[in-house]
Amino acid sequence: MTDQVRKEIDRRLTFAIISHPDAGKTTITEKLLLFGGAIHVAGAVKSKKNTRATTSDFMQIEQDRGISISTSVMGFEYRGRKINLLDTPGHADFSEDTYRTLTAVDSALMVIDSVKGVEERTRKLCEICRMRTTPIITFMNKMDREGREPVELLDEAEEELDITVCPMSWPVGRGRDFKGVYSLYENKLFFFNPHGGRSEADGVEISGLDDPRLDRMAGSLAKKLREEIELIQGVYPAFDRQRYLAGLQTPVFFGSALNNFGVRELLDCFVNIAPPPRPRPLEDGDAVSPYNDRFSGLIFKIHANMDPRHRDRIAFMRICSGVFERNKTYQHVRSGKPYKTASPTAFMAQDRMVIDEAYPGDIVGLHDTGAFKIGDALTEGEDLRFTGIPNFSPQIFKSVLNQDPLKSKQLEKGLQQLAEEGVVQLFSRLTGNEKLVGVVGVLQFDVLQFRLENEYKALCRFEATEYTTACWLKCGDKKTLDDFMRRHSAKLCRDREGRLVFLARNRWMIDRTMEAEKGIEYFFTSDF
Ligand code: G4P
Repeated sequence: MTDQVRKEIDRRLTFAIISHPDAGKTTITEKLLLFGGAIHVAGAVKSKKNTRATTSDFMQIEQDRGISISTSVMGFEYRGRKINLLDTPGHADFSEDTYRTLTAVDSALMVIDSVKGVEERTRKLCEICRMRTTPIITFMNKMDREGREPVELLDEAEEELDITVCPMSWPVGRGRDFKGVYSLYENKLFFFNPHGGRSEADGVEISGLDDPRLDRMAGSLAKKLREEIELIQGVYPAFDRQRYLAGLQTPVFFGSALNNFGVRELLDCFVNIAPPPRPRPLEDGDAVSPYNDRFSGLIFKIHANMDPRHRDRIAFMRICSGVFERNKTYQHVRSGKPYKTASPTAFMAQDRMVIDEAYPGDIVGLHDTGAFKIGDALTEGEDLRFTGIPNFSPQIFKSVLNQDPLKSKQLEKGLQQLAEEGVVQLFSRLTGNEKLVGVVGVLQFDVLQFRLENEYKALCRFEATEYTTACWLKCGDKKTLDDFMRRHSAKLCRDREGRLVFLARNRWMIDRTMEAEKGIEYFFTSDF
């Protein structure tokens, strides 16, 4: 591998923002893109209210509902780094999409609303990051509002998210009295001006907390700030990059995204500490280093209708190793077939453009006519199988009833393809021919139905079932498994990969079955 390629890899930072809806993810994304010069006017990123043109609204249904269903990628340059920001849907109904996206990033930025504190989605997403030891930087947003005390917020994050917190900045005043932040990381004071971002473009460097300039600038708040900093320095650990990279410690920033305050400090620190592309784990326990000479890539998301004039799909591929080149023939590992593309696309904030090459950490869009499935690999010939794009148990299961007997083939094909895209999970009952659709949130049914009708001209109805959870099963002993299957046949089905799935009315039923039926292994994600 040449030094040039190494440099390209090392300067890449691929991350996602995770937050509970309304915490400020869109606002912060926009500020990051403005700093990166990727957009030039505020409001260019999607607005939930759909009054503005948007980057990631690819589907009409998405626009109708005013929520971002799709995951888009925004690339931009900042301080010599190539940053790939992967957008994740905030709506809980599309959380599976978010989980998949988190498998394609090297770190995450967690945005917490300082008025509301840690919320349910944040908790869940943080848990996913922990499963994959993804390093997290935290931004406590909306400090311009009357919120919780910073110490309270930190303690809550530490306790609820099970991660050590390390404040990198500290607010001077709160709410109406919010005056700015003191950066513990840079030892600078940044003053907040609610009408124009901040008053001092680069902050004021002070020689320490004793510096008299602090009194001049913070006035009556200086004393409190000194006390608080002394206190937190005694309580919280110093920043330790190794612990951050291991997902054990999260550096925390305070600010107000709406007022563009604290975001640049966050970005400046991010480019210094966030990890460049990390090795990707393989099923056999090995991992592929990004510095491996030979190219490999992982499909983590498939999206249809990016351009409503075309029916084709776009597969999002994360480059895992080597250099990806346009017009070069690669191998699609699962099918063993060659794959070549003349128009791989990169995603900028508002545009897509054809690229000639891409490096580890980059996300490339590949034109797909139905060949790809989530989790697929492209390589230069090696038989690589990447791990880590799990399915979680759906929470709602409905059976599919065909409404147009002449279109049963279309329905079948539509269900298959949309399940491969990850729109829903699809199961086939062991008894009878019935197909079950499993989702995390009801909106997924709407998306499925809309797309079946619009793209496949298939009509169907969904009928409720009593199931609200499921687990995957494995058993090495044929007789034990046969006995189990006989006893529970009505509750068994297979997923798209043919794995055995046990449906239950609630978790208690699964626990009871686990107790009663010993020789079986039970799994709560599909990647066992
Ligand atoms: P999301 O993508 O995480 O769902 O959140 P988004 O950025 O859309 O922000 C949610 C709401 O919070 C928006 O208000 C936004 O303006 C507001 N907000 C974001 N950052 C801050 C902040 O630092 N301080 C304050 N006070 N508010 C903030 P909205 O009224 O729902 O939408 P809009 O009309 O402003 O677009």
